[in-house]
Amino acid sequence: MVEVVETVAGRGGELVLRRDGEAYEVIENGVFLMDTRNGESERLLVTGAVTAGASVLIGGLGVGFSLRAALDAGAGSIVVVEREPAVIAWNRSGPLRTVHGESLADPRVTVVEVDLLTWLASTSDRFDVVCLDIDNGPEWTVTEGNARLYSVEGLTRLSSLLNAGGVLAVWSAGAAPAFTSRLRAHFGDVREVPVEVPRGEPDVLWFARN
Ligand SMILES: C[S@@+](CC[C@H](N)C(=O)[O-])C[C@H]1O[C@@H](n2cnc3c(N)ncnc32)[C@H](O)[C@@H]1O
Repeated sequence: MVEVVETVAGRGGELVLRRDGEAYEVIENGVFLMDTRNGESERLLVTGAVTAGASVLIGGLGVGFSLRAALDAGAGSIVVVEREPAVIAWNRSGPLRTVHGESLADPRVTVVEVDLLTWLASTSDRFDVVCLDIDNGPEWTVTEGNARLYSVEGLTRLSSLLNAGGVLAVWSAGAAPAFTSRLRAHFGDVREVPVEVPRGEPDVLWFARN
């Protein structure tokens, strides 16, 4: 039986944490965002790009699969940008903290509670790897404003965050051919990786390097 653990007014709309047996689910603005059942593609988003000592930006904490993978891959420092205070609380001291072995307590991790687009407007930080997983994909964003990140303007800003040789990794619940074309037009080297899932079309990851 699915049980609602908490419902809060989030910055991107109503945010619900549900429990289904052992699994937790996060729904934002009526859009299914994330659950704790699998996490393979969320981990691959990171392990496909992060090498030991890398400085990493993760856009979107979710249930912490990507963060755990970055720590396990030996990242030197990790900034997580997450706009929902409730998501951070559920991961730091709530029921999601055991999903990733209390990753938020690791001294390499800094969590910034802010909208990624707002943060991008002012930061001068640079990273070896930027992992973007704040939506269900470039063509299925949780809130309208997020769509800007996948535009030419958004890709220009994201690529300017990268150190020389750095990688932009992007997650999607499905193919997005127009986005692939934009990425290929912008980056010299783009790898598109489908990841099979138990049901439905494969998740898709892109790894883009200048
Ligand atoms: C699909 S989940 C991330 C899943 C994550 N990769 C994992 O391993 O669990 C998306 C996350 O991005 C956050 N988010 C959505 N839009 C955002 C934005 N504009 N700025 C910052 N965080 C955002 C959501 O609150 C949610 O926690």
